[in-house]
Amino acid sequence: MRMNFETAKDRFFGRMLRTLTLLLVMVSADTVWAEAGHPLTIAEVSKEEALRLGARMYREGILPSGEPLEAIYRGDIPVTGKAFTCISCHLRSGLGSIEGRVFTPPTNGDILFRPQKSLYKGVEIASMPPRRAAYTDDSLADAIRGGLDPSGRTLNEVMPRYMFTDEDMKFLVLYLKSLSTGFSPGFSDGTLRLATIVSEDVRPEERDAMLVPLQSFVALKNRQAKVYESQPRKARMALPSMESTYLKLTLSLWELKGRPETWRAQLEEYYRREPVFAIAGGITASHWQPIHQFSEDNQVPCVFPVTDLPVVSESDWYTLYLSKGYYQEGEGAARYLNNEEALLNGRAVVQIVRASGKGSALASGFEQSWRDLGRKAPVTLLLEEEKQLTKELLEQVMDRENPAALVLWDDSRALPALDALTAGKNRPAMVIISSGYLGEDLWRINEEVREFTYITYPFRLPQEEAPYLPYVDPSMRNMKLKDDELKIVRKTYSIIQVLSRALTDMRGNYYRDNFLDVIGMMPDLPVPLYERLSFGPGQRYASKGCYIVQLSKGPRPELIKKSGWIVY
Ligand code: HEC
Repeated sequence: MRMNFETAKDRFFGRMLRTLTLLLVMVSADTVWAEAGHPLTIAEVSKEEALRLGARMYREGILPSGEPLEAIYRGDIPVTGKAFTCISCHLRSGLGSIEGRVFTPPTNGDILFRPQKSLYKGVEIASMPPRRAAYTDDSLADAIRGGLDPSGRTLNEVMPRYMFTDEDMKFLVLYLKSLSTGFSPGFSDGTLRLATIVSEDVRPEERDAMLVPLQSFVALKNRQAKVYESQPRKARMALPSMESTYLKLTLSLWELKGRPETWRAQLEEYYRREPVFAIAGGITASHWQPIHQFSEDNQVPCVFPVTDLPVVSESDWYTLYLSKGYYQEGEGAARYLNNEEALLNGRAVVQIVRASGKGSALASGFEQSWRDLGRKAPVTLLLEEEKQLTKELLEQVMDRENPAALVLWDDSRALPALDALTAGKNRPAMVIISSGYLGEDLWRINEEVREFTYITYPFRLPQEEAPYLPYVDPSMRNMKLKDDELKIVRKTYSIIQVLSRALTDMRGNYYRDNFLDVIGMMPDLPVPLYERLSFGPGQRYASKGCYIVQLSKGPRPELIKKSGWIVY
């Protein structure tokens, strides 16, 4: 490698040159903005706007001028923008992280401006902020630009050295001062307040399948806290990871009435009366969108609502879903079909979509993935709400398009037409349908149709699922749960797993962003229903898998895998 032959002098001049270029870039950016009369100094913008611009520096790596930020990493590697945002190491909450042997200390206001002794309640712990004096605005600028802490220690070179002007630095410091200072609403007196949401359109059995296990988890947690509380002080361990054992929880039920358009106002009213820390679970029969937007706008985390109609977004932060629901089945179908080159052979793909929330979620997942895979848009036919997919209509479309594959996003109303396909001369080699949309009717697919019908199935196969209910209130054991109710209980188990682990991992730092950060750092959890729930910083859909299956022959068919859990 060329680098090896570089002399120290070369490196020095190289670095000088890069620094100079960066400075020139910054100077010219300044001039351009000054000429355009753009407010660049912090004095010219409102405090709110200054905080927004500071947050953007911290989270997105963009300077107030709109330019990406620049830094030197590990001594002499110039880096820029998105790859080296502060959140990628210090996390969104600013509370830092431990990865392997690298400890990234907190950069939130509460900790930076206080002297640190590496102590927690009198106990010395390695994973605490390093021993140092309190930061001031100036010494913080020195640390971020020059890598020197207020006690004169040189920071590890994993911490990049950022090239900020004095003015840019003011925005960032203002933001750091506000970051995770004073716990989020919903925590006080050792109690964390949670809510769960149920809308009127949900059947009582389904509502209980979520509510009962969740409530019994909260009751159990509170009983434990009581036991710990009653122990003499000395017996309690002074470790951050033990903080959650004393934590008490409340769980309010927010019931939504009427049409989804009216939910937002109801949610705001509930929230005004009780600003909870987070929403745990929740269940509705319609789209989660109004609740998603409420969470986003009020910065209230929501963990694993039971919904197959989530908002699919790359950038939203506050709602963490179990999966993309119907959308994900659509994606799975597209990826599976994409591998069938011999079958496709340049022929058309026809997509028939029921005009409904479910139909359009399935279709958007399919179309988006299909496009991402570089394919031509499918021929799409929309079935209006009252319209039936008749045998004649289906045959007409097949004769006209002679497609390689038919993707059919409809419920059981489509099954009779599918039967007719068996005899038709232009039968496509493959029909793909959704198990979610068909529900229990999936098992009614006729034997002759099974052979060419492929089904998207975003869960572990029933015959491979452990028969027991891992977390159920004893009172539920006697309830006769139908398949879809059992699914809800199993989803609720995942909510409880993640919630209880997050409470521990927060280590007594009751900030909402910390709650979401620690979930992002969690190892994969073993849960029922999904082959894997995996997390990652910023990821918002925990289960990424979907099987493609077929029904076996015979009167009591089983599902047979035609793909892996993740369809590539
Ligand atoms: C690649 C990972 C990484 C990125 C990106 C990063 N940091 Fe750091 N930062 C660290 C590590 C690791 C340390 C600890 C260094 C040490 O203690 O020797 C640190 C230390 C600090 C400290 C000193 C804390 C103390 O208690 O003394 C501050 C302040 C800081 N970072 C702020 C920032 C800001 C602001 C940004 C974004 C502009 C940022 N960091 C980006 C990894 C990173």
